[in-house]
Amino acid sequence: MERELFEAAREVMQHAHAPYSEFRVGAALVTVSGRIFAGCNVENASYPEGWCAEASAIAAMVAGTPKTERRIAEIAVVAERQEKVTPCGGCRQRICEFGTKETIVHLCDEDGPVASVTLGELLPFAFGMKGVG
Ligand code: THU
Repeated sequence: MERELFEAAREVMQHAHAPYSEFRVGAALVTVSGRIFAGCNVENASYPEGWCAEASAIAAMVAGTPKTERRIAEIAVVAERQEKVTPCGGCRQRICEFGTKETIVHLCDEDGPVASVTLGELLPFAFGMKGVG
C-alpha cells in the first residue's frame, strides 16, 4: 500500500499548479474502505488563495465517498527536490479531521517512501479530535 500511495502521489504531483513556488507536491490517501484519492497543490497569483496537495486529496475523498467511508487509513506525501517532505501544520489538522492518531503518514522523496509516522506523532495534543493527543 505504501508503494501504491507513493506512486499515486508522485503521478499527481506532475499536475501541480505551482508557478510561484515551483515546489510541486503530491498527496495520495487510502480510506479505511480501501479507496485511493490523490491531489496536488494549486497555487494562485493571490498567494494566500493557493492550497496544499493534502487539501486537494482530502477534497477528492470527501467528494467521492459516502460519509461513513471518510476515514483516512494512510496518506503519502511527496514533493520535488525534497528529501523527506512532511505535511505543513495546517495539513496535519486537515488530516486529523478525517483520521485518527493511528493514521499513517508516509514521508517520501522522489524515489519512494523514506519514513512512516503516525498522525499522533505528527500532531500531538491535536485540537478538536477525540483520540489524537
Ligand atoms: N505545500 C503542500 O502542498 N503541502 C504541504 O504540506 C506543504 C506545502 C505546498 C503549498 C505551496 O503551493 C508550496 O507547497 C510551497 O509552500
